[in-house]
Amino acid sequence: MATQKLAVPPLSSVLNLFDFEAVARRVLTPNAWAYYSSGADDELTLRENHSAFHRIWFRPRVLRNVRDVRLETVFLGSPTKLPIYITATALGKLGHPQGEVALTRAAGTRGIVQMMPTLASCSLDEMMDAAVPGQSQWFQLYVNPNRELTRKIVQHAEARGCKGLFITVDAPALGHREKDMRTKFEIDAPKVQGSVSERTQGAARAISGFIDPTLDWDDIRWFRSITKMPIALKGIQTAEDALLAHQHGIDAIVLSNHGGRQLDTSRSAIEILVEVMSALEHEGIVGKMEVYVDGGFKRGSDIVKALALGATGVGIGRPFLYAMSGYGQEGVERALDLLKDEMEMVMRMLGARSLKELTRSMVITKDLTTHAGVSIRDNLSEQIYEPLAYTSVDPAKLPASKL
Ligand code: LAC
Repeated sequence: MATQKLAVPPLSSVLNLFDFEAVARRVLTPNAWAYYSSGADDELTLRENHSAFHRIWFRPRVLRNVRDVRLETVFLGSPTKLPIYITATALGKLGHPQGEVALTRAAGTRGIVQMMPTLASCSLDEMMDAAVPGQSQWFQLYVNPNRELTRKIVQHAEARGCKGLFITVDAPALGHREKDMRTKFEIDAPKVQGSVSERTQGAARAISGFIDPTLDWDDIRWFRSITKMPIALKGIQTAEDALLAHQHGIDAIVLSNHGGRQLDTSRSAIEILVEVMSALEHEGIVGKMEVYVDGGFKRGSDIVKALALGATGVGIGRPFLYAMSGYGQEGVERALDLLKDEMEMVMRMLGARSLKELTRSMVITKDLTTHAGVSIRDNLSEQIYEPLAYTSVDPAKLPASKL
């Protein structure tokens, strides 16, 4: 008897980012699903990243002629059609045979920035070669204790035209991700820094052994001496460190808890954003350093909330991996189109025609810092929502990419 394969629901029936996640859960191998979806320890931060948005409510303004709404902006000197970028996530080929180049191509057709990961399944050159002329790409860096190797990697990225260096600073040790650790990592790891070890401890441990835990503020000067790319720190989680970043001449920070994969019970980026923006205001340095946020963004309204609170832009990771896992490049493009539609709709109803017109007074954040006793269920994704229908089909009828 021929093995039956799952057919994915038609792309047009996918209406939001939760749908992509539901599809990915069904089509990914158990190892891939475990690696992509896992968070640290009890996954409290993973869930908080999204549920924090449920504690921010809107104050919409009316009668503002919102026929035309514009979402364009500029990230580190590069124009972008949407205020979001595809953030760095490792091992794209676990999800789709094309790996990260499917993300590059979708970013290219939609006119947004892709942050390319150190731990990609594709090489940096493959990702850069897949870009369309004028497309902006950033490079996310895990720092190797062998600084000569790090220097070469950074200078290669710059020579290839990368527009920003994003140094990950929240992973001096790797979070404890049990879902991932229960699986054995069997596919080829990225060749980049040749440190595959501990295959019995899941994918994350297998690929990340080389990351230097000695990295500190004094290293920033060295990075400045080896590259002219703008330098960003990814994984800032307090106002204190945001101010230190500014004092060290950093061009941008990414407020992030690494998708809930590092320190469990660390706060959501959206909560950190409020703290950081008020510190920057207090010091009179708003606008001197770009402020990005990532983690848990699934709705256009989530993104709009961050922008209203002063973020320069929003990074999205897993949802694009899930979209790619089910549908390749086209899935990622649809995910971006859905987010664009949602953002435009929310901005119209808020009375904002451009990102500049999104203001702090349009959101109420007084409950954001409340953690005690908070147990908001995400009903849409967990309970009420009717999942998409699946049918078993003859493998002969599936497109080659799904076999
Ligand atoms: C992760 C790494 C290694 O799995 O960035 O989160």
